[in-house]
Amino acid sequence: MTLALDLTDVTLVHGDGDDTVTALDSVSLHVSPGELVAVVGPSGSGKSSLLAVAGALTEATSGSVTLGGTTLTGASRRELTAVRRQRIGFVFQSGNLVPALTARDQVRLPLTFGSVEKPRDPDALLAAVGMDHKAGRRPHQLSGGERQRVGIARALVTRPDVLLVDEPTAALDRQRSQDIVALLAEETHQYGVATVMVTHDHDVLHHCDTIYEMIDGRLGVVTSPAG
Ligand SMILES: Nc1ncnc2c1ncn2[C@@H]1O[C@H](COP(=O)(O)OP(=O)(O)OP(=O)(O)O)[C@@H](O)[C@H]1O
Ligand SMILES: [Mg+2]
Repeated sequence: MTLALDLTDVTLVHGDGDDTVTALDSVSLHVSPGELVAVVGPSGSGKSSLLAVAGALTEATSGSVTLGGTTLTGASRRELTAVRRQRIGFVFQSGNLVPALTARDQVRLPLTFGSVEKPRDPDALLAAVGMDHKAGRRPHQLSGGERQRVGIARALVTRPDVLLVDEPTAALDRQRSQDIVALLAEETHQYGVATVMVTHDHDVLHHCDTIYEMIDGRLGVVTSPAG
């Protein structure tokens, strides 16, 4: 099953009293199954905040987040944990790998938390991101770009409905950036994933179906569809 992701009028305010930051300001976003959305915009504009709210890692101050018609806003912690494990794949800006685990075990990890309906083959995914030859290495033995690629394989192993990817090409060279975003587009289209990718890299935008720009917490569409 593949599900659409919808954010409606989402606002996220950090802090309280005089010291508040509006990270998201009335953001609405629809991502269809099989659609690769790119979000560009300056540092501090709210891009990572958008992914955190979309993936139910951070609760919106107001507005709603729904996944295939199921409202995540206001759901219990237990429900949100289940949704995150079964339906959402995250690729974090920092990689977020577990220090003690080999690349192969990082990719297997999401399959150990509970039953996963149709798991992908971890070794095939490592090969798809070009990391099969370093499957036995731990994060400290990998470059930043290699860690990101392992993170992408890990995010795909549960066959998520929603894929949220923060700066997948920040640590990659030009050719590898093209390869990785082409892979994300292929996965998105083939498996009907609703994918949101944050990027500073304008050279990869031609792989994307819709491009949005975030400025000061507000989201505006740049082009739709690609071109
Ligand atoms: N936990 C927090 N407490 C207070 N302010 C925060 C918190 N997290 C983020 N912010 C602020 O919210 C705003 C949006 O941050 P966010 O991380 O979403 O930006 P970004 O667009 O991802 O930036 P970058 O491109 O540098 O990664 C920034 O002004 C940031 O300082
Ligand atoms: Mg960020």
